[in-house]
Order: sequence, then C-alpha cells, then structure tokens
Amino acid sequence: MKTKMILASSNSHKLREFREILEPLGCEVVSQKEAGIDVDPDETGSTFEENSAIKARAVYEIAKCAVISDDSGLEVDALGGEPGVYSARYGGTRDDRRHNELVLEKLSGVPDEKRTARFIAAITYIDEKGEEFCFVGKFEGRIGYCERGKNGFGYDPIFMVGDISSAEMTPDEKNAVSHRGKALRLLAEHIMKNIPEENDA
Ligand code: IMP
Repeated sequence: MKTKMILASSNSHKLREFREILEPLGCEVVSQKEAGIDVDPDETGSTFEENSAIKARAVYEIAKCAVISDDSGLEVDALGGEPGVYSARYGGTRDDRRHNELVLEKLSGVPDEKRTARFIAAITYIDEKGEEFCFVGKFEGRIGYCERGKNGFGYDPIFMVGDISSAEMTPDEKNAVSHRGKALRLLAEHIMKNIPEENDA
C-alpha cells in the first residue's frame, strides 16, 4: 500500500519537486487542494523552520494523516539576511519580477564578493501518528546584475551559481544542488528508514 502524504501548499513548483523525489519511494503526494483542505494559516514565525511547522500543523489538525510542508526563501548577506522569511511577500508584493527588481536595486554598487546569498528550505514532516520532524537544506550562490533564464520561479533568475543563474538550470540540475532538493533527500532518507514495511504490505 502506498503511503499517502498531503503537501501543505498549493504551489505547483513545490508539488512537482516533492513528487519527483518521493513517488519513487512509494509515497503518493497530494496537494492540499486535491485533499480538499482549505486552510491558510498566518506565517507568524521568525524562522523558516517555525513557518514550515505552522503550515504542516494546520493541515495535520484537519487531515490527521501524514503531512509535509516547505517554507523557503532567499537570504542576501549584504541586506542583513533580507528578504528571508518575507521572500514571498518582499516589498509588500507577491510579484516575483518586482521582488527581483527590488533586490537588484538594493544591491546597486555592491561588488561581486559582497553579493553572496543562499536559498534555504525547511521541510516539516508530520507522520500519521503526529510525530514531527524538520529537515533543512541550503543552496549557496550570489546575486547577479540582471535577470537570466526562463526556468524555475521566484528569485531563480537573479541567483547565480558560478556562471549561470538557477533559472538557467534544468529541473534535474537544480534538484541535485538546491536547498529543497537537499532537504527533500534528508526527508526521503528518514522515510526510507521508518516506513519500508508499510510500503511492502
Ligand atoms: P513560501 O511558499 O512561503 O515558502 O515562499 C517561498 C518564497 O521564497 C517563494 O515565493 C520564492 O519567492 C522564494 N523561493 C523559495 N525557493 C525558491 C527557489 O527554489 N527559487 C526561487 N525562489 C525561491
């Protein structure tokens, strides 16, 4: 029998990345919307870990089955860690193009070596018994000088890894090195250790 998990998110990019890694392990990942759960708690935490837990707990309280959630964002060193937990609503907007313009504007005149940044993903997994685990992944890079590439989403077009932006990577290339890919592989390891018997049944 497949282990069913609800992803506490309606972000289609996240759903695809979770499915790519967890379905080969025998897990069925359904979105919150597909599960018919309409809850959108305020992300009042001051860390990615706290916000990830808030989202997972809200869905677990209703569904009482295994739930996963991801809270992620970009930290730019020259901006004191901004946009951080406000990545999705930076500058009071949810417009990705505006977010990127804002970061580029704020970094105007900042030299290459001070443009270091990282994506962080905190994944919370609540198993069917209600036990909670958190897995964190980081993806180091630096902020470029203009938008580049058409893949990915969010801040990918301005996030440089060597000579290319993460929006110029294929999904597989990005998964192999990204914050979410790393956190997801930690989650996958945990799942493989803890529920193989259920999947064999
Ligand atoms: P969340 O849905 O509250 O976790 O918001 C995460 C936000 O961080 C997204 O809306 C993006 O702006 C940004 N973000 C997180 N992961 C990535 C990524 O892999 N690429 C680009 N932007 C990302």
